[in-house]
Amino acid sequence: MYKHSIFLREAQTPKETKVVQDPTSNEEEREKLLEYFRTSIADEFLAAFQYRQGYNVASGEHKADIENEMNSHYFEELGHAEKLEERLKQIGGKTFGPDKWKEYTRAGYTEPPEDGNCLQITIDNIEGEKKAVSYYREFAEFANKIGDYGTVNLVEGILADEEKHLHEFEELRKQFVDEN
Ligand SMILES: [Fe+2]
Ligand SMILES: [Fe+2]
Repeated sequence: MYKHSIFLREAQTPKETKVVQDPTSNEEEREKLLEYFRTSIADEFLAAFQYRQGYNVASGEHKADIENEMNSHYFEELGHAEKLEERLKQIGGKTFGPDKWKEYTRAGYTEPPEDGNCLQITIDNIEGEKKAVSYYREFAEFANKIGDYGTVNLVEGILADEEKHLHEFEELRKQFVDEN
């Protein structure tokens, strides 16, 4: 009965209003906004694959801890890339493939150490998350300045995830250091 009433309420929810096609009429602002999207999408994909590779090479006594973290972060960063791509399409921008990632990225890609050292993987990931946090703060501020509030909401949501990732990696680093 309870489930049934929830279903009815959801079914009656009006469809979401159409998103703005053009958040700004100023050409310079528009180009800068598209650039923020390109950079963050490239950064997200590269972060995802840095985590994937960390998952693949992790070794030693903390292997299982790192594998768990890397696996969940891999999917979360891919989720961020997908959301950013959706918004980019909504505002009339073009998506792109892996051949553009190195050109557009700001955070870059750090190859995990060959020996799979878990502390080093964690330290590299902290650096990456710090870059993400600072980039999304800048991105949200810019979107707010030009009045693109749909993008502000999206970016603030991602920023909160990156702050959580940073905190998790810092905790993990502390744990590894304390145990050694
Ligand atoms: Fe992300
Ligand atoms: Fe992250």
